[in-house]
This record gives sequence, structure tokens and C-alpha cells, in this order.
Amino acid sequence: MAILIGDTAPDFEADSTEGRIKFHDYIDGSWAVLFSHPKNYTPVCTTELGYTAKLKPEFDKRGVKVLGLSVDKVEDHAGWAADIAETQGTALNFPLIADSTGEVARKYDMIHPNADNSLTVRSVFVIGPDKKVKLKIEYPASTGRNFDEVLRVIDSLQLTAKHQVATPVNWKDGEDVIIVPAVSDEAAREKFPGGWNAVKPYLRIVPQPKG
Ligand code: BEZ
Repeated sequence: MAILIGDTAPDFEADSTEGRIKFHDYIDGSWAVLFSHPKNYTPVCTTELGYTAKLKPEFDKRGVKVLGLSVDKVEDHAGWAADIAETQGTALNFPLIADSTGEVARKYDMIHPNADNSLTVRSVFVIGPDKKVKLKIEYPASTGRNFDEVLRVIDSLQLTAKHQVATPVNWKDGEDVIIVPAVSDEAAREKFPGGWNAVKPYLRIVPQPKG
């Protein structure tokens, strides 16, 4: 059965470049990003892992633990990690899971048989501190992902988890947000004492709440 937004992220135990990982214990109340790669020593994956390693301080700032995954053995990961450091200018600084049996890939529906029978697609799962799936994105093997977008979505998820707001099209951290329809005008007056711009009764724009 497919993993859907709102489901509990399946637990697993696997080897990684940073030792054995029990997933739920490892994320331990943090946010997490789990993303899959079709295969080691492939060009697109090499660029994605290097860029994500560069973004590590941004993930840390947001309290997010990042984990990559590919269906290769942990010994193969070590050689590839050296190539990533050499060619991308940043060494891997987060665990890369060795899912050589495909068990994790199957649990997370990362293998799409009509695309490829054994390799994973490029899946991204953002998991909340409650271990529920908050976001899932799937790209084909031939298209590298946009990890700036993953960070942008995490900013939105963390903001909307705290305040009763939603984020509009192409929103970026610091920009105006939308009061969710579940909040009545009466309740909104208490929550947003500075008022809002009612473009329509259902489209109420407020500055991004702080904190
Ligand atoms: C890559 O990561 O470069 C890649 C993997 C599978 C198909 C095409 C590209």
C-alpha cells in the first residue's frame, strides 16, 4: 500500500555510511528528510548528494536530520562518497543508507516497476517530529531534484505546524501568508491583532507570524 501524507513513516533498521540505523530511534523527535537515489556512481545522484551536503547547515538550522538511501552495499557507498567529495567540493556529512535488499525501498514504495524493476525513483519524504509523513515528492531517475525547494517546503511545514496559516504560491520565508479558512474572522482578530487584508472573504493575507 502506498505511503500517503499523514501516514506514520515506516520504521526500518539498516546499515549506513554512519553505522547501523534504527530509523525511528535515529530521528528521535526531530524533523527528517529521507531521499532515495537510483544507484551509486551515477552522475545526477552525485550532484544531488554534493549539493545536499552543502545545505547541511540549513537543514541543521531547521532541526532536520537528512538521510540518503540507495540500493547498494555500504562498501560501495564509501568509494562513491570519496568521488562526491572530490567532484562536488563537499564531503557527505549525513548518513547514506545501504538498502541492498530493497527492503526500505519497498516499504516506502520507492520502486515503481513500470519505470524500473529494481532501481528506486527519486523520492523525497519529509517526516515530522510525530513521525508522520508531511511531504512526499517523486521525480524520475533522469531529473535531479531541487533541494532549495525541499528547504522552502520545510519552512512552510514548520510555520504552518505552529500557526493557523497556509502559504501561497511560490511563498518564501518572510513573505505574507494566508489565514486558514478554519479560523473565523472573530478568532482571527485575536490571533492577528494587526489585522489582515481580505482580498476576498476566504482569502485573508497577513504578514508572516514571528516565532
Ligand atoms: C543518474 O543518477 O545520473 C541517473 C540514474 C538513472 C538514470 C539516469 C541518470
